[in-house]
Amino acid sequence: MDLEARFERTIASEQRVEPRDWMPEGYRKTLVRQIAQHAHSEIIGMQPEGNWITRAPSLRRKAILLAKVQDEAGHGLYLYAATETLGADRADLTEKLITGRQKYSSIFNYPTPSYADVGVIGWLVDGAAICNQVPLCRTSYGPYARAMIRICKEESFHQRQGYELLLTMMAGTDAQRAMVQESVDRFWWPALMMFGPPDAESTNSEQSLAWRIKRDTNDELRQKFVDMTVPQAEKLGVTLPDPELRWNAERGHHDFGQPDWDEFWQVVKGNGPAGAQRLAHRRKAHEDGEWVREAARVHSEKKRGVE
Ligand SMILES: [Fe+2]
Ligand SMILES: [Fe+2]
Repeated sequence: MDLEARFERTIASEQRVEPRDWMPEGYRKTLVRQIAQHAHSEIIGMQPEGNWITRAPSLRRKAILLAKVQDEAGHGLYLYAATETLGADRADLTEKLITGRQKYSSIFNYPTPSYADVGVIGWLVDGAAICNQVPLCRTSYGPYARAMIRICKEESFHQRQGYELLLTMMAGTDAQRAMVQESVDRFWWPALMMFGPPDAESTNSEQSLAWRIKRDTNDELRQKFVDMTVPQAEKLGVTLPDPELRWNAERGHHDFGQPDWDEFWQVVKGNGPAGAQRLAHRRKAHEDGEWVREAARVHSEKKRGVE
């Protein structure tokens, strides 16, 4: 009881909960689930753009894209390390990912058939990730909050490089402008889905807000993203594919339409256009890495034998 009171006091006074502290089992489980899902998203998220590394149109674009995709691998690693401070086992989490028992962000189950997708993902997908992740720098669990500070700095570079690529394409030929618009049309609604279901249907939200794991609701974050993105779209000269999108002076925010939530749930379940492909690729990469894990095991056994 005393431990629980101390935990509640830590949360209420905006202090961080650290790995050595007592915490309710539900809090620990919620964090492991959320951080693992986040880590899986970073790792799976390397695929849609990684697809373009060998075909980047210039050395400069290739260097930028390589750096971005490597950052995502780093994000995955910090986050898996954060789950380990909660007693989770990384091999077990990977197993759960590749057998479909743990999820990752629905956005990465959409294909990237055009090079403009690299720019649009940076602009919209990393942009939405920033809206989701900046509040997590103040999340109540210390190791997660600290990992997010560095991740957010890198996400901001990701967003910039995407927007800069799109500005360049929009200043190019009609065909390039059409490529950008076509990609925006495909990614706009999936980007809005990244904030999760509407608050009324979001099952985990309330407790996560009380524990200050989450700081804002899904709908608040979605609104923030739309308000931030509309002027950027105007400057870019692209049209966001939502006939209901307009400024509401009374609310001081943009009104906008709802994504197709049936599609969202289908994609979350792994039935998205590239879902099976993403998971198969991750599974193969894991199997191909077996010799590295084996070598590490043998090495550490040898070392233990010597001591
Ligand atoms: Fe990331
Ligand atoms: Fe990113």
